Amino acid sequence: MSDRYTSFARSGAGRAIVKRLGLPNPPKLPRFKAGDALIPGPVLVGPSDGPRAEGLGKLLGAAEAEKYHGLVFDATGITSPAGLQALYDFFHPVARSLTPAGRVIVLGLPPQLLTDPARAAAQQALDGFVRSVGKEFGRGTTAQLVRVHPAADTAALRATLEFLLSAKSAYVSGQTVTVDATPAPVGGDLTGKIALVTGAARGIGAAMARVLARDGAHVVCLDVPAAGEDLAKVANEVRGEAYQLDLTGADAARKLADHLRERHGRIDVVVHNAGITRDKTLANMDRTRWDSVLRVNLIAPTHVTDVLLAEGLIPAGGRIVGVASIAGVAGNRGQTNYAASKAGVIGWVRALAPALAEQGITVNAVAPGFIETAMTAKMPMVIREAGRRMNSLSQGGLPVDVAETVAWFAAPGSANVTGNVVRVCGQSLLGA
Ligand SMILES: NC(=O)c1ccc[n+]([C@@H]2O[C@H](COP(=O)([O-])OP(=O)(O)OC[C@H]3O[C@@H](n4cnc5c(N)ncnc54)[C@H](O)[C@@H]3O)[C@@H](O)[C@H]2O)c1
Repeated sequence: MSDRYTSFARSGAGRAIVKRLGLPNPPKLPRFKAGDALIPGPVLVGPSDGPRAEGLGKLLGAAEAEKYHGLVFDATGITSPAGLQALYDFFHPVARSLTPAGRVIVLGLPPQLLTDPARAAAQQALDGFVRSVGKEFGRGTTAQLVRVHPAADTAALRATLEFLLSAKSAYVSGQTVTVDATPAPVGGDLTGKIALVTGAARGIGAAMARVLARDGAHVVCLDVPAAGEDLAKVANEVRGEAYQLDLTGADAARKLADHLRERHGRIDVVVHNAGITRDKTLANMDRTRWDSVLRVNLIAPTHVTDVLLAEGLIPAGGRIVGVASIAGVAGNRGQTNYAASKAGVIGWVRALAPALAEQGITVNAVAPGFIETAMTAKMPMVIREAGRRMNSLSQGGLPVDVAETVAWFAAPGSANVTGNVVRVCGQSLLGA
């Protein structure tokens, strides 16, 4: 659905009115196109004497310049509140030196190392700093905190830093991502991998199928039989295969497992994208609305995963991705069923990730905010407009923004990224 306000704000007359009245001014967010450089401009790395300065400099091709695409600061060495001065010293002089749609990344320590109160205070300060930068810098700039274990090789940060510095993360801001010390990630794309995307006939799922196929995967596109025509179109477009299945049907998980075993013998990437809303306030909600939302959004992903794992169909190096929602973080009026299901996805991912780490399988989730799809087009106008504007980027995201985040989780280079829930919400105020 078209965002008329954004078109108006970018028009000649609109620009002047928006500025005079102090209305939201949605910046243009460049999206990644095949062949684009992942890091499209100079990156400044600091502090120059930091433990990862040399490694980061090499990895990111860091260089002094007048204007920067990215500012990357290694704060892992800050162990006390007084040490936070280094953060100010690095960022203050260059705060006006970012090009539009610039990137700010701060490296911090993972939570399990924050038992010392002074160190914990300093490291938690990074979170507030990054979230504020995301709200303050404007012009499409995003800001993230990457918590990395000191034992992790700097080269092991490549997939995560390239994603966060690239146009692939245009609508991801104010997020904290944890990168583990092991296993060492491997390079390359998804060539030779089999990926399953549920709910692939349209919207975010169709975008996921396209992006995973772009990155080399053979995509099994699954959706309900009623969406068969659209599903076939998407599957043909990505040179994958269509599989019609209602995930809430009797024996759906078993049928899916049999299908994958017979066709491919395994499934490397599983993306549980299929989801529905059936909104009503709790007092007005009949049992069918409650049951159907829980069945599609939470029971199906957990049950399907259990069956695929029990059958040994997800090999080492496998990737499981849940699709939550900011409604699962913040809650929403009229969405007790939906928010419960999406919060459930978050809890499930966090518990399953450590349980599958030894098998070399990662489990992560995306939590989209307001994304322009058929689902959000159905919203009442006022709520839709609020959803679009109430974030640091003053606009809705695109299905491709969620898809790119999933592709980063799925990449061989993300073997050390697990248990994360990353919001793709333009730093929405909901649940912030
Ligand atoms: N659009 C947003 O702003 C937004 C925000 C947060 C989270 N999400 C989540 O992202 C996911 C995709 O959302 P979307 O906006 O593309 O939705 P959509 O309604 O456009 O697409 C969902 C797809 O899932 C399929 N599906 C539904 N029930 C199914 C079942 N029982 N078996 C198999 N397939 C089934 C549908 O047929 C449809 O093709 C959902 O999980 C949704 O909750 C979306």
